[in-house]
Amino acid sequence: MALERTLSIIKPDAVAKNVIGEIYSRFEKAGLKIVAARLTQLSRREAEGFYAVHRERPFFKALVEFMISGPVMIQVLEGENAIAKNRELMGATNPKDAAPGTIRADFAESIDANAVHGSDGPDTAREEIAYFFAQTDIHGNRS
Ligand code: PPS
Repeated sequence: MALERTLSIIKPDAVAKNVIGEIYSRFEKAGLKIVAARLTQLSRREAEGFYAVHRERPFFKALVEFMISGPVMIQVLEGENAIAKNRELMGATNPKDAAPGTIRADFAESIDANAVHGSDGPDTAREEIAYFFAQTDIHGNRS
């Protein structure tokens, strides 16, 4: 299978809990390589742009407020089947429904503060990676 890339964000709640390393360790143990990374605080404009597809959803405002409430760690993960693998590691959106041992089951408080984001398919992965990283900032084995 071809190498795939996906965008991952460790959200403000998980950064505040000091579990970036624990989450990175899960990525690496699952065979996902961190090929680009940036610790940053998103501006309102950046967060609104990133979640533009959810603009009409009732939770949009709360989601944006939460995502700008503190620093986030943004990374590109590369590996075989990286998109699905990352979503499996993350667990369900609502931590109440997340399988034991997943990142959200272990570190997320609620559906509003759910620790991580991961691209949900190849097209969104491509768009989301380009939203945050230039090609020259990505140091992987895939062109
Ligand atoms: S959907 O229907 O599949 O597009 O929605 P979903 O992937 O479940 O959620 C999209 C993102 O919105 C966040 N979300 C919420 N935030 C706050 N409150 C509520 N109720 C809520 N429901 C969903 C969810 O965490 C997703 O964020 P990301 O960053 O993509 O994980």
